[in-house]
Amino acid sequence: MLNLRTQIGNYEFTNPLMNASGVNCFDKKDLDELSNSVAGSLITKSATVKPRQGNPEPRYADLTLGSINSMGLPNLGIDYYLEYVHNYQQQHPTDAIFMSIVGTTFEENIAVAHKIQDSDFNGLTEINLSCPNVPGEPQTAYDPKQTVKILDALFAFFTKPLGVKLPPFFDLAQFDQMAKILNKYPLTFINTMNSLGNGLMIDANTDTALVKPKGGFGGIGGAYAKPISLANVRAFRQRLRPEINIIGTGGVRTGRDVYELILCGADMVQVGTTLHKEGVDVFARLLDELKTELRAKGHEQLSDFRGQLRTL
Ligand code: DHB
Repeated sequence: MLNLRTQIGNYEFTNPLMNASGVNCFDKKDLDELSNSVAGSLITKSATVKPRQGNPEPRYADLTLGSINSMGLPNLGIDYYLEYVHNYQQQHPTDAIFMSIVGTTFEENIAVAHKIQDSDFNGLTEINLSCPNVPGEPQTAYDPKQTVKILDALFAFFTKPLGVKLPPFFDLAQFDQMAKILNKYPLTFINTMNSLGNGLMIDANTDTALVKPKGGFGGIGGAYAKPISLANVRAFRQRLRPEINIIGTGGVRTGRDVYELILCGADMVQVGTTLHKEGVDVFARLLDELKTELRAKGHEQLSDFRGQLRTL
């Protein structure tokens, strides 16, 4: 019998699949769809202190190989998501979920984390240090000093299980530098990775950028992201303390893609662009395909092959 159970920190999940934050998780209707799906967990849209409308539309486009988005953090505000998880916890006392939080300033990151600390939320918190789409704001985790400043301030008061959502890195020296920082903190997990920041996609008929904000620049997801997400999971697994779990995100279209992220060291796997395209039924398909892959390779559980990538 196949067993797809997995763990992040002390939390157990029946399978490794969940949504990537931002996709299908804006409001109660979206979140209930995820909750009623076969996904092993769910995460709420990155929340700021106050609700935000986000950037002007069009701000999301799909091409065959992937997506571009420049949403600009539209969300209903942290209080909305805290109320959702409060009710969720009463109805599903044994199912752990994730909340994503974000700040457009240092102060807002801390303020929104305080809201979670002071709430009855008993799941896992993911702080988003990698949003590429707020005009004028850099992606936090590309700035090591700012990352240290935020993590120092967070761990001075935050006692719930916490992880960071990272942007993609491309240079082995960057992995060394970031892992050295992250290893100093009692992080429960990292999530690698966010979209490939500031790509461009162009409409061939009109020679026009596909999204409106930021002159067409936006985060790229989907198949374009897969080799980069595999490398980011692998590179961090080789460098982080083993107690820090890894959520692998980027370019999942098939069960084989899920398998490969786990092969590189992922404990859980998030689905963004493909979830946006197919809706929550994607999770049943991916689980079927993942099981087929395990059987073909003679594995019975994820720990049989997690991190076991072979190299030449
Ligand atoms: C948005 C995009 C991201 O990639 C992210 O991590 C957070 C927010 C957005 O544009 O809303």
